[in-house]
Amino acid sequence: MSYQEKHRPQLHFTPKENWINDPNGLVYYEGEYHLFYQRNPNANDHADMHWGHATSTDLYHWEEHGIALAPDELGTIFSGSAVVDKNNTSGLFENGSGGLVAIFTHDGESQQQSIAYSKDKGRTWTKYEGNPVIPNTKIKDFRDPKVSWHEDSEQWVMVLACGDHIQFYGSPNLINWTYLSSFGKEYPSHIGVWECPDLLYLPVENSSKKEWVLIVSINDDGPNGGSAVYYFTGSFDGKEFHPNEKSEDALKWADTGKDFYAAVSWDNTEDTYWIGWMNNWQYAGVVPVSPWRSAMSLVRKMSLNEVGGDLFLKQEPIITDNNKEVISYQNIDIQTDTTKSYGISDTGQVNLQISKTSASTKWGMKFVTDQNEVFCLELNKAEDTYTLYRTEGLTDFSEDFPEEIKGSLHGLDVQELQAIIDRSSVEIFLNKGLSVSTNLIYPKGTVVQLEIFTVNEALQIENITCTNLNSIWK
Ligand code: FRU
Repeated sequence: MSYQEKHRPQLHFTPKENWINDPNGLVYYEGEYHLFYQRNPNANDHADMHWGHATSTDLYHWEEHGIALAPDELGTIFSGSAVVDKNNTSGLFENGSGGLVAIFTHDGESQQQSIAYSKDKGRTWTKYEGNPVIPNTKIKDFRDPKVSWHEDSEQWVMVLACGDHIQFYGSPNLINWTYLSSFGKEYPSHIGVWECPDLLYLPVENSSKKEWVLIVSINDDGPNGGSAVYYFTGSFDGKEFHPNEKSEDALKWADTGKDFYAAVSWDNTEDTYWIGWMNNWQYAGVVPVSPWRSAMSLVRKMSLNEVGGDLFLKQEPIITDNNKEVISYQNIDIQTDTTKSYGISDTGQVNLQISKTSASTKWGMKFVTDQNEVFCLELNKAEDTYTLYRTEGLTDFSEDFPEEIKGSLHGLDVQELQAIIDRSSVEIFLNKGLSVSTNLIYPKGTVVQLEIFTVNEALQIENITCTNLNSIWK
């Protein structure tokens, strides 16, 4: 039977076999959400990049299709995006009809931007004869075009990662591109290379405002080492991006865990959704799984939230399971240095609602396996941090893997905690996604128990809900 291997995620997208990395070409079109991705169809490591393909009607259950884009004389196929060319601005479709256009990097002697189009809902693609549409300008890292339609300036806008900065390009037809501006040389962090940018226009919760957000993936220099995603909020006028952040306080991490990278958003949707590659370049090639390697994160709905005059990303996971099994417990008091235990599944979620009057400032939960391995999450209000300990289970495949993974709470008073566990990952969402941490774990046994503890002062919980989720694979 497939999808039954020990560490195989049951709630997250994985390919049946072989390697994947970045999500690519995310676009909604005629009832389907498309998920293309970096793909080696023949082996379980990062080489010979193609675009693989999967579709979903609910952003949770996925069906894997064949190869969408394969290497050619210009090179292998690196990351990029896709849009619906509704009005046939490209002229690549028949009169009066539109279709899908993919914009991607050809990785050959140099990196250049190319396009391809599909007339059959993304199942087959034809590369444009005049590729590349943006030839290389002697920049070594020149990749990962993310394109969207900019309403106010009535043009397609591309954001492109160029090593230590982002370049913006504009086009009336997805074929002829004009350089617009550059952004970012003066900003941290430049220890690593900038990759996979995205430009979003997100609603600010509890207001009628919308603000621009520039997403940048960096490799390496993440908050816990290795690759990670950060963002700037600001304004975009169709030519230039102007950030709100001053350079010294510009670092806002989208996810403070170790395993959320190259995340980008879907095009052509009403609300904004994104997905990340659930891995880290520090050890992506040696994580102990086969015959596949790497999963995507859960899809998350994005918005902005204003805290103390500053704007922060909010991400809420999409879980569509109509047959889930839910068990709830109400009004639980846990005394100092004691724990309460609950039986849980290793493919499910735990939701805690903390009482507003709870005095505990150091508390947390442990996921315990049937071999007594412990994966502990601890929140520490005095330190303004939360930490996931993944020092148990399989860890010796990379010295960068066993970690105490720390995230800042940014003064957040945690009232709600959602933890989604899926055999080899834990995703933590605090206060409905105001702070998020995504991490891989490789238990030798099976997670069977949840223990909730408090270190100082009693912890009062209004509600604990343990949910068993069904596998998304039939
Ligand atoms: C990010 C990345 C991209 C590149 C792709 C290659 O993880 O390095 O910049 O296009 O992966 O697979």
